[in-house]
Amino acid sequence: MSDLPHPRHRPWTDGALAALLQWRHSLFWTIAPAMFLTSCLTWLTLDSIATMSEDGRLRDALAPARLQPALRQALQTSAPLLTTLPQALCTDMLELLAERVLATPMADRTGDINSNGFVRAAQEGRLAVSLRAQDGGGCRFGPGPLNNPLQQQISAAANGIVELPDGWLSVTTVAAPNGMTLTAGVHILSPWAKITRPRLFGISLASFILCISLVVALVLLMLLIRRIERANRAADAWTHGHLEKRINDQGKDELSRLTQKFDLMADATVGLIKVKQALAAAEERNRLARDLHDTAKQRAFALNLQLTALREMHQGDASSARLADAALSLTYQLQQDLTGIVRRLAAPTIAESGFRTVLTEGVEALLAGSRITPSITLSSEFEAALSAAPEVSQQLFMIAMEAVANVLKHAQACTNCRLEGMQDGDLYTWRIADNGAGLANASSVTKGMGIANMKLRAASLPDGDFALLNGDDGGAVILVTFRMML
Ligand SMILES: Nc1ncnc2c1ncn2[C@@H]1O[C@H](COP(=O)(O)OP(=O)(O)OP(=O)(O)O)[C@@H](O)[C@H]1O
Ligand SMILES: [Mg+2]
Repeated sequence: MSDLPHPRHRPWTDGALAALLQWRHSLFWTIAPAMFLTSCLTWLTLDSIATMSEDGRLRDALAPARLQPALRQALQTSAPLLTTLPQALCTDMLELLAERVLATPMADRTGDINSNGFVRAAQEGRLAVSLRAQDGGGCRFGPGPLNNPLQQQISAAANGIVELPDGWLSVTTVAAPNGMTLTAGVHILSPWAKITRPRLFGISLASFILCISLVVALVLLMLLIRRIERANRAADAWTHGHLEKRINDQGKDELSRLTQKFDLMADATVGLIKVKQALAAAEERNRLARDLHDTAKQRAFALNLQLTALREMHQGDASSARLADAALSLTYQLQQDLTGIVRRLAAPTIAESGFRTVLTEGVEALLAGSRITPSITLSSEFEAALSAAPEVSQQLFMIAMEAVANVLKHAQACTNCRLEGMQDGDLYTWRIADNGAGLANASSVTKGMGIANMKLRAASLPDGDFALLNGDDGGAVILVTFRMML
């Protein structure tokens, strides 16, 4: 392990260059182009499918054979008028004629701005109608340069479908009995031409789609990377021992679920470390107890024997005997002290034996010989939570010891002492109640140290609270509440 370079000590991790290098390898460059391309391709595919199906319908509806009858009919009704009208009015009439004949087959079915509909085709000069009289006169509707393929085909009075690189032309020509010729032409765009032609403010639809796709991809990616970065920062904090740090991603997607599991893992690790620390402390206490028992306590025992022998040897000398008696008395006290220390150090701890066992032993030891019967009720959730929080168990145990000692000292005519541990959501309640005479008055309660200590211990618990009150059956009740997230 020690051979591995620690990330904090790598020289390149500091400064802008490191940030740049890190950015170069970031997830951004993997996901952004993919999202962008996917978005563009999806749009292109959908648009192409729509255009191709529309294209088939238009080829059928705009076939010269289909348009000729309608054009002929329109020409028959308006031809006499058309020859007499001035040029400008004649053009307007041709526009009306085009609308009458072509608006229905070229109805804008998709309703979008890039369609090959009648209105858009007329606006973009992809629709033209020409009327020619025998004397060379006539008029024309539909702007566009003369080298425009549409205008060329119309001038040639052709008939049929002409394929172009950016789509196709439908040109229909009909002749009127008075020698007039009417030609109508439409330029239908291919899917690619539709999106690359400039539309709004001279910008092509393809550019719009590209920009929108790019912005959407960037925004989505930034949001994703921000969440990953938050998890990354928490992981860094954990690596450096700050296990209290949490990612706190409240979302419901897979990433949130994963980071929530990481948070739970951190909670579990903190609990495990606390239990291990408590066990290690208990082990150290046991070791001290064993060492004291096998060394100091045995030497004190031997000292006692030797002093007893010395006193026997100097029985005739009164002052020596007095000194030996005093030394023996001190040795006896030393043995007693050592016995007490060894017993306390060797007593099983909560981490080793569990809250319930240590509590039961402690309460029974205190109430032994009294008329008070203890009853202990701990919900399984309460016990499970305490097993993961040894410092909380220790405080609750100490509160219980003082409370039971008070019951023994102050609760008159008491026969029962109930200790209850309950849980409701993240709220935990620790209740110690007796059926004695209860609290006489508020001033007596402030006298001793026991209640002050219990209050301090309760306040040290997460969101801890303490209350001392008289219960419904008259006895005193100690109520400690605190909150814990499992
Ligand atoms: N279970 C109880 N029943 C009746 N009175 C109680 C009970 N518990 C505490 N009291 C009252 O509250 C007072 C304060 O208790 P506290 O434990 O602080 O002091 P203490 O027991 O008198 O002394 P110390 O605990 O410092 O040795 C008690 O003197 C007693 O009057
Ligand atoms: Mg007390």
